[in-house]
Amino acid sequence: MKIGIIGSGNIGGTLGKHWAKAGHEVLFSSRHPNELGNIVRDSDGNAKAVSVAEAFEANADVYLLAIPFKDIDETAELYAGEYGGKVIIDATNPYPERDGEMAQEVRDDNRNASEYTAMKFSTALTAKAFNTIHANDLKKRAFDTQNPIAIPFAAQDDKSRKATETLISDIGFVPIYVGDLGATNAMEVDEKVYGVSTDQQELRSMLNIS
Ligand SMILES: NC(=O)c1ccc[n+]([C@@H]2O[C@H](COP(=O)([O-])OP(=O)(O)OC[C@H]3O[C@@H](n4cnc5c(N)ncnc54)[C@H](OP(=O)(O)O)[C@@H]3O)[C@@H](O)[C@H]2O)c1
Repeated sequence: MKIGIIGSGNIGGTLGKHWAKAGHEVLFSSRHPNELGNIVRDSDGNAKAVSVAEAFEANADVYLLAIPFKDIDETAELYAGEYGGKVIIDATNPYPERDGEMAQEVRDDNRNASEYTAMKFSTALTAKAFNTIHANDLKKRAFDTQNPIAIPFAAQDDKSRKATETLISDIGFVPIYVGDLGATNAMEVDEKVYGVSTDQQELRSMLNIS
């Protein structure tokens, strides 16, 4: 797949490197793409650094959203013409201390943070994944064939479900589908499986998924 990484820090940079290693075409982006040279050099495969605009214009199959939560609104608005029908994997989390009042409002709202992203990127097909795993485990435990970690994910429709499932499996994690975006409660900040890195048996049991 061609994957546009929107925000190439701890999460986006690491996932992009894993996906490049797994054989995908990766476009790393941030507001300062000229600072992403190291990530591209460390990538074992087909990867390059581009601006956020170029990533959205590149007609990727999937976009990973790995930016601060406060930047969701502006990003969704700026590139509204580009992501229609595309899969967006949302790895973001709302933290009021970093993201301000809007993050607190989303936390206090009945809607999940994933539903907020889907509402903003309304023409895209949104999935939620990789928001529960610590950056360090994401880096160190990918491609672990002995004790693979399970990654919970939710998806809005079949296309986003299949693409997300594939991209989780391709880097050596076990995808655990929790349901649609209304079903991500246990994955939200400080909820049941947030920050939990464990195998599929334990994760399924924590989530009551058979
Ligand atoms: N760290 C974790 O353990 C962890 C785990 C799961 C989920 N998350 C969530 O994942 C998201 C990213 O976290 P992170 O730890 O990877 O953050 P990070 O290391 O600070 O990386 C953020 C990246 O986004 C870029 N960026 C910032 N604002 C942007 C914008 N408006 N448009 C495009 N790119 C932008 C930054 O580069 P420039 O500043 O150069 O643009 C940087 O490449 C957050 O929502 C976080 O809550 C984090």
